[in-house]
Amino acid sequence: AFNLRNRSFVKEIDFTQKEWRFLLDLAAELKRAKYAGSEQPGLIRKNIALIFEKTSTRTRCAFEVAAFDQGANVTYLDPSGSQIGHKESMEDTARVLGRMYDGIQYRGSAQRNVESLAEHSGVPVWNGLTDDWHPTQSLCDMLTMREHTRKNDSDVAFAYVGDAHNNVGNSLLVAGALMGMDVRIVAPKELWNHDTVVEQARAIAAATGARITLTDDVAEGVKDVDFVYTDVWVSMGEPKEVWAERINLLKAYQVNMDLLALTGNPRVKFMHCLPGFHDRDTKVGEDLYQATGMSALEVTDEVFESKHSIVFDQAENRMHTIKAVLVATLGG
Ligand code: CP
Ligand code: NVA
Repeated sequence: AFNLRNRSFVKEIDFTQKEWRFLLDLAAELKRAKYAGSEQPGLIRKNIALIFEKTSTRTRCAFEVAAFDQGANVTYLDPSGSQIGHKESMEDTARVLGRMYDGIQYRGSAQRNVESLAEHSGVPVWNGLTDDWHPTQSLCDMLTMREHTRKNDSDVAFAYVGDAHNNVGNSLLVAGALMGMDVRIVAPKELWNHDTVVEQARAIAAATGARITLTDDVAEGVKDVDFVYTDVWVSMGEPKEVWAERINLLKAYQVNMDLLALTGNPRVKFMHCLPGFHDRDTKVGEDLYQATGMSALEVTDEVFESKHSIVFDQAENRMHTIKAVLVATLGG
């Protein structure tokens, strides 16, 4: 087995294919054990700090439930309830929390913040989303893909459609490369991943046999894929002003039934990290629908609610995969 003890989990490129697969296998095992009622707590009396400088539903809940299932305690720190960032540097925060906690989760904007915590705290640090990466999401998504196909990892093809210049786009590109998959980034050129991320993914692909395609052509990009994935068109922390430009760029990349038909795969599955905007009738994001004049944004309600959609399996798997990361890096 692999020893990931005391390792931090701040981005995919820090892991080998074997280590990544080991985490996925461990997550599947922990999921089975929880369902069977035979889960063994491996984190008894461990204390975990959860720092959230951006809001969250899934990630926070997944960390808390995973920790409690394994016997650990958590402290939730929201942006206003601590000194972090405004009254105290990340480095000093790291050295304080490292004296009290056995591990730290961080969600915020700057990747350098989570890296700084990892460098200075002396305990494992887990990235719960930054502007650059969302590695607990991509780990979850790879488990979910495994559950919904009989293919070997290296035979799986997926298309990430929409804003690829964000955390989820980056993480899926690199995670897909690590898994040796057929990875398609389907986006207008302006919203492709940054060149350095593409180079990192290509370097990994050279070793794993992954195929990496970036294209602005939807029909070519989604042809024959097993999974179509999208994310919001505007991410947390981006100004409202970018909406008009994004709509222009991404209108043609909305995941609707026509787009799914272009895959030529009647069993294609739809994925989304959530939260997502798919139905103006729910009144969620009403201001957005009004401002954009669209009745759905990155995905239509028809796709979201269809038999193709596996978005809530993904949401559940956040918990099982985060638990695997906690157990592997903090367990005895
Ligand atoms: N997918 C995801 O990270 O969701 P939250 O923002 O709710 O944590
Ligand atoms: N790209 C999105 C993902 C949310 C889980 C964001 O950063 O807001």
